[in-house]
Amino acid sequence: MTRSVLFGVFVLMILVACQPSQKPTNDIDQKVNDLLSKMTLEEKVGQMNQYTGFYDITGPAPADGDAKNKYDHIKSGLVGSMLNVRGVSEVRKMQQLAVDSSRLGIPMIFGFDVIHGHKTLSPIPLAEAASWDLEAIEKSARIAAVEATAEGLNWTFAPMVDISRDPRWGRVMEGAGEDTYLGSKIGVARVRGFQGDDLSAVNTLAACAKHFAAYGFVEGGRDYNTVDIGTATLYNVVLPPFKAAIEEANVRTFMNSFNIINGIPSTASNFLLRDILKGEWGFDGFVISDWSSGAEMIAHGYAKDLEQVAELAANAGSDMDMESYSFVKHLVNLVNSGKVKESVVDDAVSRVLRVKFELGLFDDPYKYCDEEREKEMIYHPDHMAAALDMAKKSIVLLKNENALLPLSKNQKKIALIGDLADDKDSPLGNWRMAGESNTAVSVLEGLQEFGADVSFAEGVKLVTGPTAFPIELEVNTTDKSGIKEAVKLAKKSDVVVMVLGEHGLHSGEARSRSDLNLPGLQQELLEEVYKVNQNIVLVLMNGRPLTINWADENLPAIIEAWQLGTQSGKAIAQVLFGDYNPSGKLPMTFPRNVAHIPVYYNQFNSGRPAREGSAIFWPHYMDQSHEPLYPFGYGLSYSTFDYSNLKVNVTGPENVEVSVTVQNTGDVDGEEVVQLYIHDKVASIVRPVKELKGFNKVMIKAGDKAEVNFTLTKKELGFYNGTGEFLFEPGEFDVMVGSNSTDGLKSSFEL
Ligand code: NOJ
Repeated sequence: MTRSVLFGVFVLMILVACQPSQKPTNDIDQKVNDLLSKMTLEEKVGQMNQYTGFYDITGPAPADGDAKNKYDHIKSGLVGSMLNVRGVSEVRKMQQLAVDSSRLGIPMIFGFDVIHGHKTLSPIPLAEAASWDLEAIEKSARIAAVEATAEGLNWTFAPMVDISRDPRWGRVMEGAGEDTYLGSKIGVARVRGFQGDDLSAVNTLAACAKHFAAYGFVEGGRDYNTVDIGTATLYNVVLPPFKAAIEEANVRTFMNSFNIINGIPSTASNFLLRDILKGEWGFDGFVISDWSSGAEMIAHGYAKDLEQVAELAANAGSDMDMESYSFVKHLVNLVNSGKVKESVVDDAVSRVLRVKFELGLFDDPYKYCDEEREKEMIYHPDHMAAALDMAKKSIVLLKNENALLPLSKNQKKIALIGDLADDKDSPLGNWRMAGESNTAVSVLEGLQEFGADVSFAEGVKLVTGPTAFPIELEVNTTDKSGIKEAVKLAKKSDVVVMVLGEHGLHSGEARSRSDLNLPGLQQELLEEVYKVNQNIVLVLMNGRPLTINWADENLPAIIEAWQLGTQSGKAIAQVLFGDYNPSGKLPMTFPRNVAHIPVYYNQFNSGRPAREGSAIFWPHYMDQSHEPLYPFGYGLSYSTFDYSNLKVNVTGPENVEVSVTVQNTGDVDGEEVVQLYIHDKVASIVRPVKELKGFNKVMIKAGDKAEVNFTLTKKELGFYNGTGEFLFEPGEFDVMVGSNSTDGLKSSFEL
């Protein structure tokens, strides 16, 4: 070959290499590109628009979002998705409008908040997190997907993977608690459960990692409030569960958060959406705004009007607008005037279409609309059984002096006291959007079904007035008339089970509280009953950690039963009578009072580490202990577990094997969540005093021993610096393995 021919071949090779790839990487990309090429700009923008259906409004909707407009818009191809439309016949009606009347017949994707079960309700997510049982959690999400898809849905706005250290924030009930490691594992399990192995299957849903990002860090725990956190916290605490949802479970959608980060609303954050999510993490699904989080940028003071909202949100990488009406109103003009490039719109639309193709909506837009399946799957007996199993696993035993629990099956004269004990609704918790009111098994029913010798007294009403969503709850602070009867009953009973805590709508969105004591008159009721009978088992029903110092100091037994869903009362009865040995561990620290917040286990040492003693110059309170009431990871069992033989073996420059022997020294078989924590002693940015880096839930028969093994790699031992760089720094590490974040066997190693 001559030199010039060689040069020509070389130039050709370079030219080919520099061409944007014309050839789609797979079949779906090809289909997306083909469809995109047929779409008008208006139709493209339509795919970026979502409208709510006509019930279950979850936020302030602009007045002009009326039904008539919406129908017309669907028929004109201006709507890519609906939320809050469910039920086969409803979904089919809406889908028909899009498929039969719009020019290209592009099917809509139907989203809904399928948060903890659908019709059959499983425990609230925070409760499920207390199980530390990833298999059970995945199964719970799987079942939710089966029921939701049977009702015509194909997209859930879950899981919420926001880490939060503030129990005043009502939405802690919707997440996995305070810890990033546990939260990441649980988020992945939930996404896998929703999406299954095959997104095109008729019983799988596209999942949504939300709220991106840092929504759990709202100041003062007030929902929708400002967030102001450092980048080291952002990278190490907030972002990992989102990243894991992509890397380990291929989550197909993300939702923006309401808050600002570094002064910029997440919905318009190039940093979060372009640089991190779609850039560094290579996310190829789509991003939906939160409910009117676009329009709210005007109130934030970041956009002057709805047109600018659309410009900022689209350019930053928000692909679909939930209930701000900004894209549908302004995006076409913004493209025409050059403020938003058409390629930005094309990218967003491709992402939306990709997920629709993956779901199989183009093969059959009505694939989720099968009345037979709907009838068969809703409240399927297998779902009920799984909900019961999940409920039992979510219960945490907080205190059990003198082995008061489990109660003997022949236990005579049990007094059951508290409004919540006879409540069939509160145990369903908040975010039970498709759930039917009053469908939980109450504690009273659960005990009666169990054949217990039980008498009931309400004591005090928890709330007065209507409780329908979304009005404020009115807590009873005056009517004490039932206390007398409850005291009378307690006096003549052998044991008292008191079910106290929060109403089902005391937690959830917009349900922040500044006082975490038992609401209303419940504490007074408890103390009055205690005066006549101290043999009290307190069953807490609540959606967040509460401040229960008095109960902890005075009562012999406390069970954290959260809000356990449809099968609540049955699960509680089985734990009370020992048919199930509790195995849950707290996914969030219990503070002593609200001034104690934020209190979380993986804090920093400070320059003056916490110590007890006479000198006063260290980070403490003068008037109470700085230690939590119950630490993260804490929970008892009817068995006792003994830890021994901690072995740490450095097997490579970045690898450590850890093993421990755990013996069940009790009389009954039991499950233990064995937890491993590390502390990186010296690093280029300071590391927390402890970080969970492994856990293993093991069933150990009474008297038996189990060896539990962990492997630590660079992934567990490294961390992010303040600019988002992942670092692995050899050096000295402490390791602790035990039954909660404060108790365990300790060792150390050097890399
Ligand atoms: C607002 C909530 O913040 C979000 O989590 C939810 O998915 C949407 N409303 C839709 O209901």
